Amino acid sequence: MNRRNFLRNASISGAGIAAAATGISCNSTNTKEKETNSTSMPITRTLNAPVAICTWGFTDANETAGKALDAGMNALDAAIKGVAVEEEDIRNTTVGKGGAPDRNGTVSLDASVMDSNGNCGAVVCVENITNVAALAKVVMLETPHVMLAGEGAEELAYKHGFKADELLTPSSAAAYKEWLKTSEYKPLINIENHDTIGMLCMDKDGDIAGACTTSGLSYKMKGRVGDSPIIGAGLFIDNEVGGAAGTGLGEEIIKTVGSFLIVELMRQGKTPQEACEEAINRIVTKHNSVEDFQVAYIAINKKGETGSYCIHPGFAMMEYRNSKNSRIETKSHLKT
Ligand code: GLY
Repeated sequence: MNRRNFLRNASISGAGIAAAATGISCNSTNTKEKETNSTSMPITRTLNAPVAICTWGFTDANETAGKALDAGMNALDAAIKGVAVEEEDIRNTTVGKGGAPDRNGTVSLDASVMDSNGNCGAVVCVENITNVAALAKVVMLETPHVMLAGEGAEELAYKHGFKADELLTPSSAAAYKEWLKTSEYKPLINIENHDTIGMLCMDKDGDIAGACTTSGLSYKMKGRVGDSPIIGAGLFIDNEVGGAAGTGLGEEIIKTVGSFLIVELMRQGKTPQEACEEAINRIVTKHNSVEDFQVAYIAINKKGETGSYCIHPGFAMMEYRNSKNSRIETKSHLKT
């Protein structure tokens, strides 16, 4: 099988996004808008914040982030706290502990974070550490680098108090044993479930940050890295404009630098919904068929408007706003 077919046929544990741009009654192009009070002294108010959105129906994760934002937590820490819910949930076979292993039977994780000042950190191929998004923040804050891989990232984790954990759960080990009987990559468009968790938060100050974390493709080649830890692919934030995150077949997201593309399209005036749709179209137009893989995007702009779009139906975005956590079914390029 050539490389192209290998990637096209790669199994993704993901489904579709869908979108529904949120109607926001706001004319300001900036979250912080100057008002004039009765004594003509300018005051600053924040519009539409806080807001948390995430890929898939990760209700608890998004609510955790939203409530943290309501309590005054900054956008980056809220996003990391939110995605940690999925990293620690062993029922989730595509993120953190309990994630599907690679072809050799080893669970390895990828993650990235980006803050509202344009700082970012990422880790790839990390074994034995559950909270890799938090570890990506350590890379960002405590090293002069953006990305650490494998043992180097793991060593840094232990230096900063992370505990070693067994990421391969009995049920993931059993599923792997079953997979070994055929050892085949095959298309898996998992329409009701999930893949990566990418989360974008806007805090009370209107600042935007995000986190993205995954165990990557099920039974991937050892050392394979997807989009999630690649800044601009699985995650990108520009606090002047907004943020975006991706999920699905990482190779396709990397090739089109999807999250960066969405933020740049928003900079040029597109809504989050329009930008997500354009980024999916960039992928779709490069293929004769997109039946075999899923990609989905979510995005938020500085007004707090959100959008999402995907290739296959079945993807949902969670959105927390005004202390309410909602599941937003996403429009898709392919129809059922
Ligand atoms: N989107 C996750 C991955 O491709 O690894």
